[in-house]
Amino acid sequence: MYSFKDYIDLVIKSLDHLYVKDESRAIAMRLLSFYLGEPSYKFIAYPQTIISNHKITPLLEAIDKLKEGVPYQYIVGYQEFYGFDFFVSPSVLIPRHETEELVLWVLEFIKDRFINSEKKIRVLDLATGSGAISLSIFKEYPQFDYYAIDISNEALDVASKNLNHMIEKLALESYRDNFRFIGSDILDESSIESALRSVDDFHIIISNPPYVTNFQKKEMSKNVLDHEPHLALFVEDNNPLIFYKKIERIAEKYLKKEGALFLEINELYAKETSALFDNVVYSQVSVKKDINNKDRMIRVIK
Ligand SMILES: C[S@@+](CC[C@H](N)C(=O)[O-])C[C@H]1O[C@@H](n2cnc3c(N)ncnc32)[C@H](O)[C@@H]1O
Repeated sequence: MYSFKDYIDLVIKSLDHLYVKDESRAIAMRLLSFYLGEPSYKFIAYPQTIISNHKITPLLEAIDKLKEGVPYQYIVGYQEFYGFDFFVSPSVLIPRHETEELVLWVLEFIKDRFINSEKKIRVLDLATGSGAISLSIFKEYPQFDYYAIDISNEALDVASKNLNHMIEKLALESYRDNFRFIGSDILDESSIESALRSVDDFHIIISNPPYVTNFQKKEMSKNVLDHEPHLALFVEDNNPLIFYKKIERIAEKYLKKEGALFLEINELYAKETSALFDNVVYSQVSVKKDINNKDRMIRVIK
């Protein structure tokens, strides 16, 4: 028989090779909450409560998966991002808190430039994954037009599920047609051309493309390396800016004058990435640090 406290202690002990104690405790509380449907304060307020026999099985199975390094988000199937629970599966990157900072930067810009605009604002999300970035903006501004691109059909399935969930939860049905997902390859000019052929230029383009080099793999934790999709993460050491170079071309062609491009970047290449936009096409390039004081985002204004 396991009490809430026994279960939390077991998770902490089982995961001591992977996480610090506080992280393991937080994971245990999330799992208890998910499988028992109870709010977390109960596990602290009533630690001796016994978990019923038929409910303990999935909780113990979850520990086995965690021990193998499976991120708990793939076990429960979601990750909270900018106040909304996004479905995730091993075919999408688990959206990160740094990316929430990028979303906040985009929202500030929109508030500043477009809030009173009569125009229909068009937003393009390149490498959308779970859809976390553009759907977070859609949540605030469902009246805009959205185009979200990814090469992975599995990722686009997850992103569509997230759109449906958001529409249902927030009663946004009348805005459904404002959001479109497109399967396309950022690295292939003709693929992007056919994806955007009949669309007017964009006021905002956002992207968090793959940017981790192979030599950075050794600094990554095993649970990311073994379980998150490599298609979403990695680029070759000899061409670390491959996506940014292509995105610069896309912005040159498809971003409106005075529109803005927002990028999440590899902190090791902040200078080189911003240098890609150091030409007459663009009027302003700003690099911004994330909460960990790393150069993590770039905003380019045309
Ligand atoms: C770092 S993830 C970003 C996911 C999401 N935007 C986020 O911020 O959480 C990068 C995404 O790029 C997609 N991707 C990889 N190569 C691509 C390509 N050549 N064209 C389009 N998308 C690509 C992957 O499938 C993945 O979903």
